[in-house]
Amino acid sequence: MVAVPGSPADGLARLADGYLVTQLLHVAIALGVPEALTGGPRGADDLAGELGAVPGPLRRVLRGLAAEEVLDELPDGRFALTATGELLLAGTPGSLRGAVTARAELYYRAAAGLLDAVRTGDTPFDVVHGRPFFDHLAAAPERLAAFRASMAGRSAREAGAVVAAYDLTGFASVVDVGGGSGTLLRAVLERVPSADVVLFDQPDVVAGSDLPTVGGDFFTGVPGGADAYLLSRVLHDWDDGDALRVLRSCRAAMRPDSVLLVVEAVLPRRAVEDPAVVRMDLHMLVLLHGRERTAAEYAALLEEAGLRLTADVPTAAGVHVLEARPQG
Ligand SMILES: C[S@@+](CC[C@H](N)C(=O)[O-])C[C@H]1O[C@@H](n2cnc3c(N)ncnc32)[C@H](O)[C@@H]1O
Repeated sequence: MVAVPGSPADGLARLADGYLVTQLLHVAIALGVPEALTGGPRGADDLAGELGAVPGPLRRVLRGLAAEEVLDELPDGRFALTATGELLLAGTPGSLRGAVTARAELYYRAAAGLLDAVRTGDTPFDVVHGRPFFDHLAAAPERLAAFRASMAGRSAREAGAVVAAYDLTGFASVVDVGGGSGTLLRAVLERVPSADVVLFDQPDVVAGSDLPTVGGDFFTGVPGGADAYLLSRVLHDWDDGDALRVLRSCRAAMRPDSVLLVVEAVLPRRAVEDPAVVRMDLHMLVLLHGRERTAAEYAALLEEAGLRLTADVPTAAGVHVLEARPQG
């Protein structure tokens, strides 16, 4: 589709061509384009041999990336990384490399099932792949590794912002429920080195961690009696019934003066106010039975679990810290 630049038709054409952009980014990572450009600008012919690519198609892909301002196309035809392109490198602070790979390799095909999902209520991933998302990951170590790399990148971006936004210094003991690789708990320990911490997650996830761990099932119970419980990016994985079960486990473990800190993106009142969270909600619709929620929806869920939302603290990483305490 070719339309007058800046016209409504051009805007719509760009949206419709979004399927190409995901794959352009994926090709760049898979070939090692960002790494090859760290030493300075290079041409497609020069890059092709080194990256195992055919020069003609590679040049067209690089031009596609330049059109999206991931690369800069210099007057002499060579290509350089832009600030956006640098985020495809693993070592760049705030890198989105893992997130891009997960979208291209794990989510992309499932999105083709979205229409069925809207018509039938089925989960697109299950329809397209014939099995649930986490079963599909478990069946191939490289898929699981790609997903974990994406999650690790996201938690690294969020953890620093969470401990900067919410004062944890008053807590002597902290349990991170569904804490994954422990990125958030390590950020907590940097702020409060004396804190007694526990990383709680499924036994195979916490095995081998350098942090104090307890393996278990958060639907059944979590370690009791801590000052603070963290629940970061857990509730959005689940529908309301299961999210409530997790919250009830936390509530049962809490003392009357314990605090629960739910770290989640919060859906805006109107979609245009925070499109990134709306897209995250669509990832949940495509992949899982989960969903993002508004602050009012979190407050209602917490209340049903015997907890009261006492503060909603936004962070610089887009997620909020929703502070909850046992109802009196
Ligand atoms: C989206 S990840 C969030 C990880 C981490 N809290 C973060 O913010 O990056 C959800 C976590 O819930 C854990 N989980 C899933 N089911 C669980 C269960 N039944 N009991 C304990 N942990 C579980 C997963 O292993 C995973 O680490």
